[in-house]
Amino acid sequence: MPLFDVYPLYNVTPVSGKGIYVYDDKGAEYLDLYGGHAVISIGHAHPNYVKAITNQVETLGFYSNAIQNPLQKQLADKLEDLSGCKDYELFLCNSGAEANENALKLASFKTGKKRVVAFSNGFHGRTSAAVAATDNATIIAPINAQQAVTILPLNDIEGVKMELEKGDVCAVIVEFIQGVGGLDQGTKEFFEEVDKLCKANNTMFVADEIQCGYGRSGKFFAFQHYDVTPDIISLAKGMGNGFPIGGILIHPSIESKYGMLGTTFGGNHLACAAGLAVLNTIEEEDLIDNVNVMSDYFMKLAKTIPQIKKIKGRGLMLGLEFDFEVGELRKKLIYDYKMFTGGASNKKLLRILPSLTVKKDHINQFFEALIEVLAEVEEKETV
Ligand SMILES: Cc1ncc(COP(=O)(O)O)c(C=O)c1O
Repeated sequence: MPLFDVYPLYNVTPVSGKGIYVYDDKGAEYLDLYGGHAVISIGHAHPNYVKAITNQVETLGFYSNAIQNPLQKQLADKLEDLSGCKDYELFLCNSGAEANENALKLASFKTGKKRVVAFSNGFHGRTSAAVAATDNATIIAPINAQQAVTILPLNDIEGVKMELEKGDVCAVIVEFIQGVGGLDQGTKEFFEEVDKLCKANNTMFVADEIQCGYGRSGKFFAFQHYDVTPDIISLAKGMGNGFPIGGILIHPSIESKYGMLGTTFGGNHLACAAGLAVLNTIEEEDLIDNVNVMSDYFMKLAKTIPQIKKIKGRGLMLGLEFDFEVGELRKKLIYDYKMFTGGASNKKLLRILPSLTVKKDHINQFFEALIEVLAEVEEKETV
């Protein structure tokens, strides 16, 4: 049976991974500066992670949400502890889109309203309301387009004010650092004013931390760089280091009710074991400190390369902007230099999303390759 052909694929077949490297079926080693779309947070096959998942699957891999599962509480407590988000409550699901779908649904339950405000170039997933709040008409099917969503330019505070004052907006959803869109960030004034406007208009402020959260920005959550209090925080990607797990942190002002949200697989034993191993490793290895040190080092080297026109993002969620499209450059990095990097909707942007365990040697290796590839590209242009 053929696979439904929705992904353009690189001709690489990774079969194993260790730390920041993956290995293909011919034994070649690749430096993974992309982490499979910002998913690999503590490194491939981290020993803590392998041990936790192996032990758990040998003991009890799954049971439904109709029984006591102390692992969920352990995960919630550890998350509270490391994130500093005191008093929030945790609902577990399986992916980023599902987290945002639940976040928007909850915002609508809480406020009794149904319109969502989202921002240009934002990406929130591919399910019903999440995709409608995503600024990409090509992935919104007619069934999704029935959702009431208004997309505004980032930093358009007057626009947000005008929409919220109409009284029908249940949620404003924002990526504090845009991922797929290309690493743009709103200003501090903008985010803090949106937070105030949400509070003044009975609108839930939803922080989509699916890509920028879990330490990647240099704080546990990217919103923590600002003076804001989101009502709902959505999580996935780095949360499971590859195991499918997502969740939302819910401010205590939103009251739970039996049946309000639910899932078969969300919060299962195996997912919780993976999630706990990730959090324990972030703590034990001081990975958020490492993010800040490595980010500074990366930026310092990036600034020495004249072809880089702009360095975007924060922490280890970084973008290098050139004055040409980077498709060919990425191909050369993969096939000739054995390095994974990412693209974005902004075709001139190279996205760098390594595991939070990345070291200076890996960054040096990347820049050495980049300098060579840029020289090759220039040589080709002058011939
Ligand atoms: C910011 C953001 N939100 C939501 C999603 C959707 O997550 P998933 O692919 O796990 O559904 C993504 C995925 O790239 C994302 O980057």
